[in-house]
Amino acid sequence: MVQVLDKMRSADVIVLATPVYFYTMCAQMKTMIDRTLGGAQRTGLENKKFYLIVTAADGKAAMERTVDGLRGYLECLPGAKEMGVIYGAGAWQLGDIQGNPAMQEAYKMGKDIC
Ligand SMILES: Cc1cc2nc3c(=O)[nH]c(=O)nc-3n(C[C@H](O)[C@H](O)[C@H](O)COP(=O)(O)O)c2cc1C
Repeated sequence: MVQVLDKMRSADVIVLATPVYFYTMCAQMKTMIDRTLGGAQRTGLENKKFYLIVTAADGKAAMERTVDGLRGYLECLPGAKEMGVIYGAGAWQLGDIQGNPAMQEAYKMGKDIC
């Protein structure tokens, strides 16, 4: 986590990407979030730009809880700006994400980062 946090602190833009596992973010993402805010000390993650990417087998409606969870993290980081959200819906079987409109949206979002 020390290495991850160092990278996050030196980044201008951070992408939080997680699959939906049982209606929420994956355990690895949750652990990362918990470890960021584990102490009373300053996180060093103030004023960052964030993009959110979520994938799931179901549709967008089933992903909102997960997005809300990630937004809760941003609310705890002073000056955090949510720049965009990608919903990779309908990704169940291996390869399902290929050709999904979310791929193009993510590509365009990446190109538009300034
Ligand atoms: C343990 C587990 C739980 C899942 N729970 C959900 C869920 O609640 N809703 C949903 O739409 N998809 C669910 N899925 C499907 C995944 O969100 C989806 O296939 C995702 O793209 C998998 O990403 P990954 O290959 O990085 O694990 C679940 C998949 C797994 C393995």
